[in-house]
Amino acid sequence: MRGLDDSWDPALYDAFGSTEDASVVRREQNELVRILDAEPGERVLDLGCGTGHITAQIAACGATVTGIDRSPAMVAAARRHHPELTFRVADGQDFVLDEPVHAVFSYCALQWMNRDPAAVIRNVFRALLPGGRFVAELRGKGNAQAVTDALEGALGAYVPDPGSRNPWFYPTLGEYACLVEQLGFTVWSADWDQVEVPLPGGKQGLRCWLLTYAHAYLVGLCDAERDAVIGQVESQLRADHYQDDRWVIELHPLRVFAHKAS
Ligand SMILES: C[S@@+](CC[C@H](N)C(=O)[O-])C[C@H]1O[C@@H](n2cnc3c(N)ncnc32)[C@H](O)[C@@H]1O
Repeated sequence: MRGLDDSWDPALYDAFGSTEDASVVRREQNELVRILDAEPGERVLDLGCGTGHITAQIAACGATVTGIDRSPAMVAAARRHHPELTFRVADGQDFVLDEPVHAVFSYCALQWMNRDPAAVIRNVFRALLPGGRFVAELRGKGNAQAVTDALEGALGAYVPDPGSRNPWFYPTLGEYACLVEQLGFTVWSADWDQVEVPLPGGKQGLRCWLLTYAHAYLVGLCDAERDAVIGQVESQLRADHYQDDRWVIELHPLRVFAHKAS
């Protein structure tokens, strides 16, 4: 069985993932990058940088950015896309920076750091200079719940405990903001939303979403088993989630903005 970090597929992510939530967050400049408002001379960490496209948007503001990500394949792709930037393989639950930063930014990655979310926040706190800011969007409680339920149901025929494969930590807004404050930050803003997101890829959209984001569930299945599971998920969700030749899923973006006292 491959490790979870190795199962990210950068080519699939760039082809599909980078447009998954076009209607929510990925505009010309990612909205969270606008909120981060990095300035020339600042050092910024992009935590869970993936293939580096948002890291590059931060760098375009004039800041010096380092991207870290647990997946060697994603980091290799980031380095290929943006050789002028610095990327490192590191786990958000266990990283130390050489030099403290003015801001830690994280987009759509913290929910994957499910082994020890408190360790991630402690590491972020330690990485920041006094007065530094933590600007993060993750997915919150109930994110893509219908898909998760259908997937775990379909997998039951092939693996003993499908729920144990769930790779996500989906906190409520209150849980996450409290954790951030308990670990030393002051939260200045936090919000949570429910958004119906049409997936690109037409008929193949849900399949691509599952292969891009839910690969941890599918590890170890042969191609025929994987296709059967995906087919069953599609059949179960079609009536409520397939309209006008495209799949629509409900995402729950959760944003927290916090700072470390000066
Ligand atoms: C959905 S992608 C987001 C990537 C990027 N922020 C973007 O928006 O394009 C999630 C990323 O989190 C990374 N990740 C998952 N667990 C991690 C961990 N424990 N530490 C660091 N990165 C992690 C994955 O390797 C993946 O690249």
